[in-house]
Amino acid sequence: MQKHIDANQSLFKVIDFGKTYTGKFPLRAYCITADAASNCKQGELKPAKGRFFLMTQTHAREIATSEMALSFVNDLMRKAGSNDADVKNLLDTTEIWVLPAANPDGQEYVSSSGEPNMQRKNRNPSYGRCTGVTVGVDLNRNLDSRWGTTGVSKNPCGDTFPGPKANSEVETQAIIKLWQQLFPDQRGPSESDKVAANGTGYMLSIHSVAALNLFPWQGVNRKAPNDAELRAIMTTASSMNGYAAGQAPELLYSASGGHDDWIYDKLGVATGTIELGSNDDECGNGNFHPKYSCMALYEQQNLPVLYYLAKIAKSPYALGTSGYVQSASLATSTLSTTVANAPRNAIVETSFTADFASIEQVKLARANNKGVSVTTSKLSFGSKPADAKVMYLRTKNTTTGAYGPITVVSLNK
Ligand code: ARG
Ligand code: ZN
Repeated sequence: MQKHIDANQSLFKVIDFGKTYTGKFPLRAYCITADAASNCKQGELKPAKGRFFLMTQTHAREIATSEMALSFVNDLMRKAGSNDADVKNLLDTTEIWVLPAANPDGQEYVSSSGEPNMQRKNRNPSYGRCTGVTVGVDLNRNLDSRWGTTGVSKNPCGDTFPGPKANSEVETQAIIKLWQQLFPDQRGPSESDKVAANGTGYMLSIHSVAALNLFPWQGVNRKAPNDAELRAIMTTASSMNGYAAGQAPELLYSASGGHDDWIYDKLGVATGTIELGSNDDECGNGNFHPKYSCMALYEQQNLPVLYYLAKIAKSPYALGTSGYVQSASLATSTLSTTVANAPRNAIVETSFTADFASIEQVKLARANNKGVSVTTSKLSFGSKPADAKVMYLRTKNTTTGAYGPITVVSLNK
């Protein structure tokens, strides 16, 4: 990874936004985008680009999650270095924030003995006489969104101890502050107010190892005001990674005070949590310490999802309900597309320019039972400029008029 970063330094900025409880480690995010130095600004709440925020390893023992984040960073930087047209378009339009280690103190403890141990929480010992892996506060229960109401243990040594009060932990305070410097408050005064279609930002938290695509509310068994959009986004993710989509109370258990619920509740940022996994014992079924070879499976499942979520981040509520052109290729005049979660009446629009000024439309084949449509069509190419090097594609829901995010493919390969 480092060699790709060194070769593309203008795309990469390091942001330290706090320290852990022990003070031994920085809380360190990367911001990846074209011209990172003049973008990626804390305090700039109306940035020119969309913002996708990825956080992993909140729970220290979930060691595959930060590997997943670093795989994404590596894939992005490698493709940027080889002038991949789709990644170039993404980095021209989007800031990709990655916090691989959301709980570095816990992580240090996980790796402090020969075999990784089962530390989940941070390492703040202040609230009880706890020992070993029972020390600390569950950082995914500590935030002030329905804090302490469900899915928590009042025992300070319990794995889901939410802290003595909401936002008690320095790791929590730091990430809340960072998010408030990155995303405007888009929530209305009432709990039932929907965020408008032009709402911006997407935050994904990755946990393991239940193989699920989750979205708010997680801390109460009630639909969020933007349930339709949050659900559509994670259903599109399901067509790519194969995990079930739903709220935690529907699929797992209710749990209050999490990062995802907080950022939607307080700022109106679209959000979700992916639990990595698989339905075998080796890479799933509650195995927090899977073999390293499971990474290949997690990457195959989830790299497409991470690109999708980054692409919708500028306006997820608008771009998230019309499916997604996951991949496409053009051989002579035959276009093949793979589309995730196309709604009924969806088509694909193709264009040789980013503004879709002149388009050709493609009807989609019916989706298979995973929600994937694979379509091959002949294009007429009436308007193909001789020097066209790339093609832009997006889905369109012809009933609502809404578009999915843009995918760019190279024509000269
Ligand atoms: N399994 C994770 C946890 O127990 C994620 C649950 C979904 N997110 C949430 N905010 N409850 O924290
Ligand atoms: Zn977790």
